Amino acid sequence: MLDIKHKEQLSAVRIESETLNSSPTLLAMDFLNDISNRFPEAISLAAGRPPNEFIDTTKISLYIDKYIQYRSERSGVGRDEIFAGLGQYGPTAGIIRDLVATFIQRNNEVEVNEKNVLITNGFQEALIIELMNFSRDKKAAVIAIDPTYVGLTGAAITCGLPLFVVPASDNVSEALAIGAKTAIEQGFTHLCAYLIPDFDNPTGKSLSEESRKDILHIAATYNITLFEDVTYRLFNYDSHQYSSLLKLDKTGCVIQLGSFSKIFMPGTRIGYIARNESGESGSNYKSIIKSFVSVCTSHITQAIVGGFLLDANTATTFNADRQAFCKNNRDIMLSTLEEYLEGVSGVSWSVPNGGFFLTVNVPFEFGEQETIELAKRSKVIVTPMQFFSPTGSFKQQIRLCFSANKPDLIRLGTERFAMYVKARSNES
Ligand SMILES: Cc1ncc(COP(=O)(O)O)c(C=O)c1O
Repeated sequence: MLDIKHKEQLSAVRIESETLNSSPTLLAMDFLNDISNRFPEAISLAAGRPPNEFIDTTKISLYIDKYIQYRSERSGVGRDEIFAGLGQYGPTAGIIRDLVATFIQRNNEVEVNEKNVLITNGFQEALIIELMNFSRDKKAAVIAIDPTYVGLTGAAITCGLPLFVVPASDNVSEALAIGAKTAIEQGFTHLCAYLIPDFDNPTGKSLSEESRKDILHIAATYNITLFEDVTYRLFNYDSHQYSSLLKLDKTGCVIQLGSFSKIFMPGTRIGYIARNESGESGSNYKSIIKSFVSVCTSHITQAIVGGFLLDANTATTFNADRQAFCKNNRDIMLSTLEEYLEGVSGVSWSVPNGGFFLTVNVPFEFGEQETIELAKRSKVIVTPMQFFSPTGSFKQQIRLCFSANKPDLIRLGTERFAMYVKARSNES
């Protein structure tokens, strides 16, 4: 049973759209792009990109061919007709729902009917469609943990939804309950919450199995729909994998939102929305919304992902090479931090079990000016954690990304960053 402690220490903050329009949270991505353009020679430990080494665009025509062959064999329709169909309009819900359902089933160990899958233009459209659907109710509000993925903050604002954020703590279910109570007190009774249970962006943290069960309990108590973002789930550097919320869900309150950006190619812009069998199958409203947002998702890029899934759904370890690459980069980053910063007063860092990110705590404030100074003088770009905070908190934390560079650059970039942190820490 959940024990809610320290209630007085945590509180939810309601974020108004007007405040956010001028907040660094939404301007953060532009700022980072601007810095990268201004200092092109700097090593970026900021962008959460998948490693270039594994994005093999030369295989695109092979994937399409494989997909066409598969569809032709299954339907009895000729290859030419299937190929020509890729250039046409088509079903809003997508043409690779069966393959994506198998993929989700495999990665979550839970039954998923293809009727409960909607193919989207990346994760971001999946989230926007869900929030648009939610916002049809005037009493709707979103709960999130502070700091959170900037894509959520932007999507909530775009949909005009009030956002209640609760500071990150070790007890996420407690934070969720506090967020729900505050929202309900202010008249918002139609609630959803956004969570990244595995290898969070920006913090790198994961939720324990117990915490996941507690979250589902709170969701049932306050009638909260949970949006589970599983973008980094398949980058697990531990032997143990926790159950997804989708798997643990018995009441149909979980909606899983996925992406093929990190495990395949962000350029295909393919993502999905899925529910398990206990969820309501009627995704009517979402299909209607999608039909007015993007009509349908490109059949050409769906065919590319379809061909990829024909391999991935049958392989034992399709993401192993990328995973090993990112794990090695994480280890290099950690050992470099240890080499330069071990014992420096006020400096510590997290050790993530997966994903692309880790958090460094420093004894001084690190924001826009410091980011520019670091890029200019030390030729390394990192992200202040406050960029991910709708309340502008976490001023003494920094997010480092270890996925997007070759190992030697990860070492060099981390070394430059660590020297700066050491010098600044000794001053303060
Ligand atoms: C937390 C999180 N969710 C989702 C995505 C992927 O989004 P998309 O599928 O739109 O590329 C990212 C990419 O940066 C992310 O960090």
